[in-house]
Amino acid sequence: MEEEQIYFLISFFTIADRYPPQTMNSINKDSIIRTRRSNMTIGIDKISFQVPNYYLDMTDLANARETDPNKFHIGLGQDQMAINPETQDIVTLGASAAAKILTDEDKKDIDMVIVGTESSTDFSKSAAVIIHNLLDIQPFARSFEIKHACYGGTAALQQAHDYVSLHPDRKVLVIAADIAKYGLNSGGEPTQGCGAVAMLITKEPHILAFNNDSVFYSEDVYDFWRPAGHDYPLVDGHLSNQIYIDSFTRIWEQNKKINQTSSEDYAALTFHLPYTKMGRKALRAIFPEMPEEEQQRLEARYDEAILYSRQVGNLYTGSLYLGLLSLLDNSQLVAGDRVGLFSYGSGAVSEFFSMTLMEDYKKYLTSENNHTLLAQRKRLTIAEYEKMFNEKLPTDGGSHSFSDPTDFAINKIDGDIRYYNK
Ligand code: COA
Repeated sequence: MEEEQIYFLISFFTIADRYPPQTMNSINKDSIIRTRRSNMTIGIDKISFQVPNYYLDMTDLANARETDPNKFHIGLGQDQMAINPETQDIVTLGASAAAKILTDEDKKDIDMVIVGTESSTDFSKSAAVIIHNLLDIQPFARSFEIKHACYGGTAALQQAHDYVSLHPDRKVLVIAADIAKYGLNSGGEPTQGCGAVAMLITKEPHILAFNNDSVFYSEDVYDFWRPAGHDYPLVDGHLSNQIYIDSFTRIWEQNKKINQTSSEDYAALTFHLPYTKMGRKALRAIFPEMPEEEQQRLEARYDEAILYSRQVGNLYTGSLYLGLLSLLDNSQLVAGDRVGLFSYGSGAVSEFFSMTLMEDYKKYLTSENNHTLLAQRKRLTIAEYEKMFNEKLPTDGGSHSFSDPTDFAINKIDGDIRYYNK
């Protein structure tokens, strides 16, 4: 018998033990195959993020757009928005996020660099291979980009998990990096932002372990998309809100059925955060099924998980993971606590899965640095923001130099090749 088949049978009977017969009838074969994994602990060993050194205050934006600031601060749940100069792109942000956590030893052990993004600067060459070079990761590695709207980071993370489960002594670097732009004076303008989250996926991780309980959902819908040639996405904002909530409630029901869980099993639920009110609406959509103290407990954790996103705005693929990082840095969760993660990418693909906190995980976070990174940014005036927003890298094929001393910033573009500080 092949190893795969033995594995399947062992998994089937292990799962059959866990679920009563009437439940087994409702679990299809696919979900059993999905649950089939080794006992090895795999997860996030290190995690960090990077944002550009500029931000716009949402009160300033509201005043400039003749809108009540409460619409942005309360209605959308956003206080500040990260803004990038033209010299800082997904490569700059992704490389900077990863450089903070990788040791020389890690760089020898990494077999894959995966960048989840919907802000690619090239239809062919991936940001991952450039980051691989900038970080001096050993050459016999795979580097590639992965896409489905804001879901790409999760696709990368799950791919990383699967690779490490087959190659336990190797590591995978996952980067979720994006520049979320809808255009000046557009409906989506207050829900912009940018940044990158980097995660090192290994066996016996120090921070969080996968529970191998993913539930997925796909629906072919046009709520947000960016056809080739468009600088900004086309978006039906209110439809995207609706599909997001519908996707969450459906996947939550499916999760309860397949994984036999309820809200009590989760110390916290984290969400994709295009703006922080969005996840709150989804969370509140399942409140009717739980007692009031349970609602308050989950909402208190939610408030801890959105502290960073309130100051950064939308990171597209990175938003869920910035929320996770904010929760880890700002809550008092303890080892063994289970955190639920809801990933949503318009178009639409979503996934719900959970991870469990490891012993002493706080020791392996870079919480102080994260707070400092946000506190040290420069506040832009509206005029500076609009100027920065409109600046575009030249596309004439000529040679142009830039002086941005930031780590990994673009210092030259020549023959349509971007050169980065190393
Ligand atoms: N004080 C407090 N709250 C206010 C307010 C005020 N003065 N004015 C409006 N609000 C509230 C509204 O009641 C609404 O809250 P609700 O959603 O809980 O009902 C919220 O602010 C947003 O108001 P709305 O009129 O819906 O804003 P909008 O028409 O400008 O659209 C988005 C908001 C998010 C749809 C829009 O910014 C967008 O398209 N963003 C990009 C797409 C996106 O992020 N989608 C998310 C899913 S991926």
